[in-house]
Amino acid sequence: PKPKIIFSGIQPTGVPHLGNYLGALKQWKDMQDTARPLDKLFFSIVDLHALTIPGSADKLRQNRREMLTSLLAIGLNPERSTIFYQSSVPQHAELQWILSCTASTGYLTRMTQWKSKLTTLNPSSPSQSTTPSNPTISSPALKHGLFSYPILQAADILLHTATHVPVGSDQKQHLEFARECVTNFHSAWSVPLESRIFPYPQTISLDSSSRVMSLADPAKKMSKSDPNPKSKIFINDDEAAIRQKIKWARTDCVSTYVGEYDPVNRPGVANLLEILGGFAGKTGREAAEEIKEETLQTLKTLTADAVVSGLAEVRENFMLFGEDTEVNRQRVREIEEIGTQSARESAERTMEKVRNAIGL
Ligand code: ADP
Ligand code: NA
Repeated sequence: PKPKIIFSGIQPTGVPHLGNYLGALKQWKDMQDTARPLDKLFFSIVDLHALTIPGSADKLRQNRREMLTSLLAIGLNPERSTIFYQSSVPQHAELQWILSCTASTGYLTRMTQWKSKLTTLNPSSPSQSTTPSNPTISSPALKHGLFSYPILQAADILLHTATHVPVGSDQKQHLEFARECVTNFHSAWSVPLESRIFPYPQTISLDSSSRVMSLADPAKKMSKSDPNPKSKIFINDDEAAIRQKIKWARTDCVSTYVGEYDPVNRPGVANLLEILGGFAGKTGREAAEEIKEETLQTLKTLTADAVVSGLAEVRENFMLFGEDTEVNRQRVREIEEIGTQSARESAERTMEKVRNAIGL
């Protein structure tokens, strides 16, 4: 088979939680470890995307650093995978502009993410209306960056001529848009079939990986925006914190036994099963099969054991890389340098062809 080029990005939003880990980052690490020698992997900390929701500069600096530490801690290897900050490679923004000149505004208007983000950001605005056509493109709160975000995302993927992009279901629409950008670009600039620059990126669906719910309220997704500290476990939590949070995790009074996997009627129990299974490469249902005769208390103990041991190395690495010492600062600078250089080389190979195709 032809070598794959895998690209994925994550926003620098602080230390990842268990949902980010089991739902995405652990899969990245598994992809790295199962990749064939000629496959290439790019993992980007997409700090330009983070600017669509402005905050404090110091916080962003800290978040960037914490995300890099996290990616190293989960086992991404800078010698095998290209790990880099999006903003260190100016070609991302350059290609975004070029793609925006052939991308359809109407298509962007129909996408759902800017609408949902806008609604979350401005809950009191008229955008809260239940009319599906609201919020509108003329909402004053809609900034252009948030609206055109999918073009930057397309540029991220196409710049490295990615063939495979791991995404959750919420991002499938954006992958389709990226494919649309490929067609639009080649056709608008009359690039002949045999000298096409961008392959059509394929989706690697992460939907079969674990979906982790809040430990405090299993009706909601575990999410960084949830202010309840009992709702989530961070990948650098220590053993005591992990055990405490799982002890507090909400289950139910349906039965004191695990029983069948039943996310509808027993979401709290199903969530613990999902987490337990996630660390063993099993589904929640498979985990339930093995321990359905056990009590909920045993389920909690087993889940806590699985999380503690499953994250032990990650936590250790996190402390190792995250500690603010001169040795570490030097090491991180070197890793940043390696990633930046490798990503820029890949970017420039593509951009030479792009500029040539459009007369620049
Ligand atoms: P959050 O939902 O906390 O804001 P992000 O949107 O930054 O997290 O998601 C980063 C990655 O983690 C995405 O691939 C997303 O699908 C995945 N992810 C986030 N929350 C969960 C969860 N609760 N369960 C499984 N995967 C998740
Ligand atoms: Na999210």
